[in-house]
Amino acid sequence: MTFEQAKKRSLVLKEQLEQWNYEYYVNDNPSVSDQEYDRAMQELIAIEQRYSELITIDSPTQRVSGQVSEKFNKYVHTSPMLSLGNAFNYDDLIHFDEQIKELTGLPEVEYTCELKIDGLSISLVYDNHLLVMGATRGDGLTGEDVTINIKQIKSIPLRIVQPTLTVRGEVYLSVEEFKKINEERAKNGESEFANPRNAAAGTLRQLDSTIVAKRKLNAFLYYYVNALQHGIQSQYEALQRLEQLKFKTNPEYRYCSNIAAVWEYIQEYEQKRHQLGYEIDGIVIKVNNLNLYNRIGYNAKNPKWAIAYKFQAEVVITKLLNIFPSVGRTGRITYNAVLEPVRIAGTIVRAATLHNADFITERDIRIGDNVQVKKAGDIIPELINYVVSCRQKNAQKWHEATHCPECNSLLERVEGEVDQYCINSVCPKKITRGLEHYCSRNAMNIEGISEKIIERLFKLGYLKSFSDLYQLEQYRAEIIELENFGEKSFENMIASINNSKNNSLERLLFALGIRHVGQKTAKLLARQFKTIANLAAMNIEQLSIINDIGPIVAASVVDYFAIPANQQELALLRQKGVKMEYYATNQHLAQKFENYRFVITGVLSKPREYFKELIESYGGQISESVSAKTTYLLAGADAGNKLVKAQKLNVKIINEEEFQQLLNKEG
Ligand code: IVH
Repeated sequence: MTFEQAKKRSLVLKEQLEQWNYEYYVNDNPSVSDQEYDRAMQELIAIEQRYSELITIDSPTQRVSGQVSEKFNKYVHTSPMLSLGNAFNYDDLIHFDEQIKELTGLPEVEYTCELKIDGLSISLVYDNHLLVMGATRGDGLTGEDVTINIKQIKSIPLRIVQPTLTVRGEVYLSVEEFKKINEERAKNGESEFANPRNAAAGTLRQLDSTIVAKRKLNAFLYYYVNALQHGIQSQYEALQRLEQLKFKTNPEYRYCSNIAAVWEYIQEYEQKRHQLGYEIDGIVIKVNNLNLYNRIGYNAKNPKWAIAYKFQAEVVITKLLNIFPSVGRTGRITYNAVLEPVRIAGTIVRAATLHNADFITERDIRIGDNVQVKKAGDIIPELINYVVSCRQKNAQKWHEATHCPECNSLLERVEGEVDQYCINSVCPKKITRGLEHYCSRNAMNIEGISEKIIERLFKLGYLKSFSDLYQLEQYRAEIIELENFGEKSFENMIASINNSKNNSLERLLFALGIRHVGQKTAKLLARQFKTIANLAAMNIEQLSIINDIGPIVAASVVDYFAIPANQQELALLRQKGVKMEYYATNQHLAQKFENYRFVITGVLSKPREYFKELIESYGGQISESVSAKTTYLLAGADAGNKLVKAQKLNVKIINEEEFQQLLNKEG
C-alpha cells in the first residue's frame, strides 16, 4: 500500500470506528459486530505502525495508550467550574423560584430539570475540532489534566464538527460496573470502593492508563460554556446542541414551564432513582432562558440561576451492637455506634456517630436496640433514634464514660457546653490527632505521613509535637527500618515536611489547632496581621474590631498565645525554619502576578469576585481605577471610561482569553 492509499484508508477507518463508538456507547445501538469492529481497529493499527505519521490525536487507536504517568499537570480552567447551592425541601425550592422572579421581574420562570449525577465533574476543551484537554474540577479554578484517561471514555468524541468548544459534565460509573470492580478487588484482597463516585474518582485520577481502560467509565455532558455566544438561547437547546455534536447527554432532562412542574419532576425521580442503573443524589434545576443569567447573577460561590435539590437521606433500621467513646484533637469526646452491617445509599455501613453523651441519654438509646440510621448529606452515617415501638427487652441501659478512653484521665464538662473533654494535655490521642490535623491537606499540607505513621512515630518517641516533625531526619535509619517504610517514602515525606516551612501564615494558623480558628478565620487573621508576632501582640478588643471576628474567637486567640507551652512550641517551630508570614494566599502560585496591578471592567463571563480572587491568589493586586501604575486592564464587554483611559495611558488591555493565556503561561 502506498502512503497515499494508506492515508485515504486510515481516514475512512478512523471515521468508521468513531461512528461505531458513537452508535455503541452513546446511542446504545450498535450496527456492527464486535469482530467487525476489532478487524477495522487492527487494520488501522497496522497502517499506523507502517506509517507513524498517520497517527493523529483523534485516532481511535489513541484512546488506549498503556501509558503510566508520574503525576498529572495542573490545568487552569478558562472559566471557573462553579458548584451549586442546595435545596433540601419544597420551601427551599419555592424560595429559589421567588428570588428569580424578583430578580427578573417575571411572573413565571421556565426551567430545565436534569438529574444530578453522583460522579465527578470534568471539563473538555475542543480546539480545531479536536479534543485537546480533559480536566478534573479540582478547586474550581485549577484542576488536573487527565486527558489521557478521559480518552478511555469511548462515548466522548475525539473530534467534533464544531471548531472550538468547552463543555462540562459528569464522569460516573454504572452501578453494575462498580459492583464488578469491587468483586474483582475483593478477590485480589484489595480494599473495596465505598461507592460508585469514589470508584470513578479513583479511576479518573489513576496514573496507570491501562487500569483506566479496564474500568468502564462513562460521562454525561450538560454544560455548554458560553452557549449564548454560540447562538444558543436556553439550557434545553444547549443540551440538544450537545446531542447534535454527538455528545452523550442524560436522557431524563425535561423542560418545565414553572416551579410546580419542577416539583413534579423531583417527586417522580425520587421514586425512580434506584432504577436508573447509575447513582444520582438529586435534581439540578436551571433557569431555562440563558439571556436571564447575567441579570440573575451570582453569589459568593454559586450562580443564582440554578440550584441542586438534594434527595432526602435514606433511613434504614438496624441493630445497635455497642457504643464506644473516642477522643478528638481538642479533647472532645464523641460517641460512636457499632452497628449490624446494613446497606444505606449504596454502601455498607457498620458504624455511625452518636454525637455526645446527652444525645444518647436524652433519647435513652440502649445497646441491643433496633435503631434508625441515615447518612447525613449521604456521607457520614448518623444514628437518629431507637425504634420506640420495638424496644428490645434485653437492651442494656447505657452510661456515659467518665474517663478518657485513651489516657484514662477524668473527663470534664465545660460549663454551658454539652460535650465532655479530656483535659490531659499529654493525652496520646489528642497529640496524634493534633499532628494529623497539622499535616492535613488544608493545614500544612504535608504528604506521605499517614495517621498510622504518626501513631507509630509517636509511640517510638520520635514525634510528640509539631516541631518534632522538622527533626525527623535524625531518625532516618530507624524510620527506614520500619516495616513498609522504604527509603523513597522517607525522602518524600521529609521533602514535603521541608516544603511546609514555606507555607503562608494562614496555613500555620489553621494547623496549630487554635480553638475556633478554622480555615476561613485563619485566612482573615493572616491577611490582616501579616506575621504571627503581630497577631500575638493583639488583645481581645483589637482583634474584635475586625469584621467577622467575634469575641469568642478573639478570646480564644488571645488565650492561645498566653499559654507558655504554646509560646515555646512556636519558638521551636521558628527555630526549625518554619516561616510565620503571610504571602498572598496561594503559596505555590504567589509569585506569578507579584507587583502586577489589575483593573477589571466590563461584563465578563463570571462574577468579578472570581477574577479578583484569582488575581490575588497569584499575588497580584486589584485597583478600582486605571492609572499609569496599572499593569493590565482586564476588559469584558461594554467596557466604558476605564477602557478609554487605559488606551490613553498605554496600559495593556487584555480580554478574558488573553488573561487565561497569561495564567497558563509557564514561569
Ligand atoms: S450544573 C454552574 N448539572 O453537581 C453549573 N451539575 O454542585 C454547574 N452535577 O459540581 C453544574 N449533575 O459536579 C450540573 N446535571 C448537572 C449535574 C451537575 C451532577 C454536579 C457537578 C457540580 C455539582 C453541583
